[in-house]
Amino acid sequence: MDFYRAHVLICGGTGCTSSKSDQIEEKMKQKIEEAGLDKEVMVVRTGCFGLCEAGPIVVVYPEGAFYSHVGLEDVDEIVQEHLLKGRIVKHLLYKGAKEEDIIKSVNEVNFYKKQTRIALKNCGVINPEDINEYIAVDGYMALGKVLTEMTPTEIIDVIKESGLRGRGGGGFPTGLKWNFCAQAQGDQKYVICNADEGDPGAFMDRSILEGDPHCVIEAMAIAGYAIGADQGFIYVRAEYPIAVQRLEIAINQAREKGLLGKNIFSSDFNFDIEIRLGAGAFVCGEETALIASIEGERGMSRNKPPYPANKGLWGKPTLINNVETYANITKIINKGPKWFRSIGTEKSPGTKVFALGGKINNTGLVEIPMGTTLREVIFDIGGGIPNGKKFKAVQTGGPSGGCITADYLDTPIDYDSLTALGSMMGSGGMIVMDEDNCMVDIARFFLDFTVEESCGKCTPCRIGTKRMLEILEKITSGKGELKDIEKLEKLAANIKTSALCGLGQTAPNPVLSTLHYFRDEYEAHVIDKKCPAGNCKALLAYNIQEDICKGCTLCAKNCPVGAISGEAKKPHSIDQDKCIKCGACMEKCPFNAIKLG
Ligand SMILES: Cc1cc2nc3c(=O)[nH]c(=O)nc-3n(C[C@H](O)[C@H](O)[C@H](O)COP(=O)(O)O)c2cc1C
Ligand code: SF4
Ligand code: SF4
Ligand code: SF4
Ligand code: FES
Repeated sequence: MDFYRAHVLICGGTGCTSSKSDQIEEKMKQKIEEAGLDKEVMVVRTGCFGLCEAGPIVVVYPEGAFYSHVGLEDVDEIVQEHLLKGRIVKHLLYKGAKEEDIIKSVNEVNFYKKQTRIALKNCGVINPEDINEYIAVDGYMALGKVLTEMTPTEIIDVIKESGLRGRGGGGFPTGLKWNFCAQAQGDQKYVICNADEGDPGAFMDRSILEGDPHCVIEAMAIAGYAIGADQGFIYVRAEYPIAVQRLEIAINQAREKGLLGKNIFSSDFNFDIEIRLGAGAFVCGEETALIASIEGERGMSRNKPPYPANKGLWGKPTLINNVETYANITKIINKGPKWFRSIGTEKSPGTKVFALGGKINNTGLVEIPMGTTLREVIFDIGGGIPNGKKFKAVQTGGPSGGCITADYLDTPIDYDSLTALGSMMGSGGMIVMDEDNCMVDIARFFLDFTVEESCGKCTPCRIGTKRMLEILEKITSGKGELKDIEKLEKLAANIKTSALCGLGQTAPNPVLSTLHYFRDEYEAHVIDKKCPAGNCKALLAYNIQEDICKGCTLCAKNCPVGAISGEAKKPHSIDQDKCIKCGACMEKCPFNAIKLG
């Protein structure tokens, strides 16, 4: 085995790859070779480090120097200064959103201080394309342990004791589900990994698959042994090419090493995994629709029961878990259920990975112990709201969730607290909003998504959500009436109780939660015909500030409908009845005399 005095870790997640981290890696290797350091310095392409907004990220060990926004032009300096002369390149080090100009190593970065990494343990640490690196960090130990030391019932008991709950949205106890599958009668059983991840803004599962595919493969094999299945399927969306490619590499490497296939660890246990690509329909994340899709049918949900545990893929008992759920399994087997329970809260043990986005300084992936407050996530880890703006709300749970206001920032994050606030954990999208976000428009955005994604099988979802969307569009365009708010509420209640699957049943949630916390905004749109956040264009007017206008006539010349009048060198004015709100005048005015309000 070769020993290296330094390791250069380059992020190979989708975010950093899209900003050329693959070319940075190539150049890094070339420059290291030119400097004669290739026997001393190893370059490793890892999965996502989490702080995607600061990418491309390069971390150099043993110092742990955390370089952010690295460009191709910076590579030579890192090689010459840091790797050759041992001098950290200070100007490339990550500067936290809060503490400007402080030099940071990876352990000092605020972003990581309050995080606990279980599911993401190996992401950004190992090369996901090399099974030996996974084995070096205890990989396949848990599989070896269960096959040689434990019975299926003992495994299920450990998972039950850990209190792990499904990370795919519903939070169903994982051990209980495994137990149902183990007890179900069937000559053939299956294990499925749900990697559909259709929530807008979510990329937790993708990052785990890109950064640590073996941890999911190993956990699926453990699940197969526990329930009596010999075949697994990973259902992953085709828009995740890096994840798919790394999964293929990992499955092949595991097969070559005898960790998948026949007689694993010389036992009589056989297990193999195949990948199935999804076309990116949100409903295909719903377990029964996903199963239909693997069977080659159109991805549509069906009534439950029967649950997949009894009648799943091709009518056989099937265990279906989320990527992040699987990513916790190997650690629970290795470290024990007590250790897992020591993290998080009593009813929601462990951690949860969130994709933090929207109006927040540190966008990216964070993994926090359950029970961490929303305030800690948004302000300590996320670095707060950019441009000195005020926090307004945070949306959790994607299209199935809702918005939470500043009054509840100290709520601990766990399944039950978020549901009590009218939102939900969901799979882990967390979108932060500031004072410029209109909450009616946010509800419209999510409903627009569900209308597009409805599979159309049942009437309440197919037609009901469309009617709700039409009402929201009427309100944001200034044509709403008070009775529309009532209609929204009635429709929402009906759809929630009558839709066939979780998509329709939760589709009204963003509308209901914004109506609950921000009813005054709805009323301002309907009664005063105003958008308090200044977001809904149809409710805003372009006005010329007389004291600033120099009468240069540029705006009038550029108005496509002749709505602007005035004499040269005198203040101009806009005829609001004629104005079509195209914004051309504001763009052209050299004196910033035109304001939207
Ligand atoms: C519309 C809809 C979309 C869903 N999308 C996903 C998804 O992308 N990934 C996922 O793991 N679960 C998704 N679920 C939940 C799954 O149906 C299922 O509960 C989950 O995969 C079970 O795994 P868990 O117990 O490990 O959470 C979705 C549910 C609904 C109703
Ligand atoms: S609720 Fe919507 S997505 Fe679910 S079955 Fe009905 S139409 Fe399809
Ligand atoms: S917004 Fe467009 S239509 Fe309205 S006054 Fe300006 S240029 Fe004319
Ligand atoms: S372009 Fe600006 S300064 Fe010139 S007339 Fe129009 S509003 Fe006045
Ligand atoms: S993709 Fe590089 S830090 Fe997330």
